[in-house]
Amino acid sequence: MDKLIATGGGPLRGEIRISGAKNAALPVMICSLLTSETMTISNIPHLHDITTIMELLGQLGVKLQVDDKLTIEANATEVNNVVAPYHLVKTMRASILVLGPLLARFGKAEVSLPGGCAIGSRPVNLHIKGLQALGAKITVDRGYIRARANRLRGARIFMDLISVTGTENLMMAAVLAEGTTVIENAAREPEVIDLARCLKTMGADIHGAGSDEITIHGVQRLGGAAHRVIPDRIEAGTFLVAAAISGGEIKIKDVKPQQIEAVLDKLREAGASLEVGDDWVHLRAPRGRLKAVNIRTAPYPAFPTDMQAQFVLLNSIADGTATVVETVFENRFMHIHELRRMGANIQLDGNTAVVQGVRKLQAAPVMATDLRASACLVLAGLIADGETLIDRIYHIDRGYHCIEEKLSQLGAVIRRVPRNYLERKSA
Ligand code: EPU
Repeated sequence: MDKLIATGGGPLRGEIRISGAKNAALPVMICSLLTSETMTISNIPHLHDITTIMELLGQLGVKLQVDDKLTIEANATEVNNVVAPYHLVKTMRASILVLGPLLARFGKAEVSLPGGCAIGSRPVNLHIKGLQALGAKITVDRGYIRARANRLRGARIFMDLISVTGTENLMMAAVLAEGTTVIENAAREPEVIDLARCLKTMGADIHGAGSDEITIHGVQRLGGAAHRVIPDRIEAGTFLVAAAISGGEIKIKDVKPQQIEAVLDKLREAGASLEVGDDWVHLRAPRGRLKAVNIRTAPYPAFPTDMQAQFVLLNSIADGTATVVETVFENRFMHIHELRRMGANIQLDGNTAVVQGVRKLQAAPVMATDLRASACLVLAGLIADGETLIDRIYHIDRGYHCIEEKLSQLGAVIRRVPRNYLERKSA
């Protein structure tokens, strides 16, 4: 397992292009299971999670081709297996998304239960309940969800909690169901809208994606489509924070600024100057220290939980004290223990972190625990005094396209070293 070494240094400056969104690319790739025609999906980010989903789709019998511009052609004419095994689902929970489309097109699916992860227990009860409402017979047996159905039937489904992949799974199941499905209290995330846009191009009849009520009139069959994945709003936000906390200046290109408004508002409140174009954002850090900003995560369009760790870091070196409340996941504060080891002053009380800014963090060996926590620790290393060694960075490779290259392009001093780096150094 490689590690990263980040050296605290000067301001990050320059321009970078934002990659396609991981959490939009995954469901769009999976929806190729709904048709026997070829899907062409472009703007795919180069990430481990994408490789995992390709492995899963390949095991199901989907033929995949990737070109050097990261465009994928997927053809699911010869699906000969409906099982998503534990070893793939446990590394990437989004694998649960094959449940809806397999059931809708083939009438059966077996998907390993994902189990808990570093940010919370993350059950999939809403996916199961929704599919049962559409007529699926589901049992949970030996760690697997086993689902069967003749043709699914449209239904009115109320989601007790707003769930992004839950909404996506049900949308993909309902597009081939008989009759009309209404998903109430649906997730409004841009990734849900992107999936709906792709399904519509395939011939699905969907209305209301982006609102909390999505109506789907089932059709008999779907065709192939060409689809370009939206930009990654969390990658965009992460780079803006990197520039802000390092006292730098950045232009991020190929973004959809309207999808990161909650994050841009908080950056302005912290004292950064922003200029916003149609598909770019320019940020200049304030001359003095950033100001601490209160954060409360919640489903879109509110402040995203996937940017919480980065803003805990911003607050930990800002002027003043701020509270950060995490309302989406019950255990998404592992980065705080690591930031404290770097000198951050953070008190944790249930789902609230009280962060009192310090002037400088100090380098320390730290361990990444999940994807966004690892991004936070990498950025912390770039502004701390000295060299920070970040272990378990496989998490970051799951979700950030070439992060060291992009940061280096902005002037960061960061390098990847092999797992036995420290032993070799002291030998
Ligand atoms: N929940 C349930 N039951 C369910 C489904 C969800 O209780 O059946 C709960 C969850 O435990 C959580 C809340 O509902 O407390 C919201 O979870 P949601 O289902 O929305 O999360 P998700 O769909 O599993 C996606 C992203 C996450 C992102 C969240 C929230 C993908 C592949 N993943 O997860 O992204 O944090 O929505 O926006 O789209 C990441 O990229 O680092 C990441 C974790």
